[in-house]
Amino acid sequence: MSVLNGKKILLGISGGIAAYKTASLVRLFIKAGAHVQVIMTPASKDFITPLTLSTLSKNPVHSTFYNQEEENNGTWNNHVELALWADLMLIAPATANTLSKMANGTCDNLLMAVYLSAKCPVYFAPAMDLDMYKHPTTIANFSALTQFGNTLIPAENGELASGLSGEGRMAEPENIIAFLEADLESKLPLKGKKILITAGPTYEAIDPVRFIGNHSSGKMGFDIALSAANLGASVILVSGPTNCKVHNSLIEVIPVVSAQEMYDACHEHYADVDVAIAAAAVADYKPKNVATQKIKKAADEFTIELERTKDILASFGANKKNQFLIGFALETENEIENAKLKIQKKNLDLIVLNSLQDKGAGFGKDTNKITFIDKSFHIEPMELKSKEAVADDILNKVIAFFYE
Ligand code: CTP
Repeated sequence: MSVLNGKKILLGISGGIAAYKTASLVRLFIKAGAHVQVIMTPASKDFITPLTLSTLSKNPVHSTFYNQEEENNGTWNNHVELALWADLMLIAPATANTLSKMANGTCDNLLMAVYLSAKCPVYFAPAMDLDMYKHPTTIANFSALTQFGNTLIPAENGELASGLSGEGRMAEPENIIAFLEADLESKLPLKGKKILITAGPTYEAIDPVRFIGNHSSGKMGFDIALSAANLGASVILVSGPTNCKVHNSLIEVIPVVSAQEMYDACHEHYADVDVAIAAAAVADYKPKNVATQKIKKAADEFTIELERTKDILASFGANKKNQFLIGFALETENEIENAKLKIQKKNLDLIVLNSLQDKGAGFGKDTNKITFIDKSFHIEPMELKSKEAVADDILNKVIAFFYE
């Protein structure tokens, strides 16, 4: 999935021949899952029509401070609102004139007003003839703009509208998208971090056809994995049997069945990770002896002798170096006290407490109601939320650990 998925993008178009390429640019943004609003300078409308861009972006195009077609009840285009809406602003093509205005704070059209109001990252893709591109004024403007925190998407070499050949062509739309994706990915807060996550139930064999299991769907662990990957982390997801699926190049799924297999798979990776999150519902007991053949019914009563499985999370705590360690607790009574004991016993940094007394929490649901308790016993009850939103909250705790 592209890092642009779900991003709100303001595309500012100024008046150069490369403006015709913005039709492809808008299509590529939409294909990547972004939401796009277009702002055009008056001059850019000579090169591409607002109708083309509004059709492709599925949004009205903005170019003036008020809607001129409705003269009597003209609606004001709120430039501040537009600027604050955006996660990212791209000015492409950025002509020499527009660059100069940006560098000097000239505010004579809607695009400039929005640019000056924008708090999001701003990228600009210049387009001009080769001598203009090399002119000391242009170079000084690039330098000023990058010093202001804007990012230059360099022009490319090739044939120019003048017939000359050289540097100055606006970067091709595919290259602009690739540039933005690479830049955004490199700035993701968990880029370079490795996270180990356990998920799902474990099945403990009784004989070749029977097992002891539980109702965990695995959804919470898979949602945590996806949220971590969306923040740039590399994820090792060790999961018991589940119907959950995930396709993301940053997530390696290691399927396991029993608690022992989960333990072994986890410890192949635990020493190398920065964070471990134990969301699996690991069986606490397993049959002491696993029958090699199917057990036939005979007596009226039948007893299976059970023994403890290894506690994976406790083994993480016992072998902790610098890992940030998050566990889950599912409690039905004395929730807070039991969870605090678990933090100490398993050497955790944070526990995610589910109380079965809360409606909407627990196994097989799409929602969860959790309370965070950290190792200083700071208690933070959260609202009932979708499991995706709970996953994001958990990852926000991870980000806070690294940056606060
Ligand atoms: N856990 C684990 N390995 C086990 C058992 C549990 O990694 N063999 C992890 C779970 O993934 C979860 C936490 O430990 O993060 C749950 O702790 P546990 O002591 O099993 O508590 P509960 O099952 O919630 O409750 P109880 O104390 O009643 O067993």
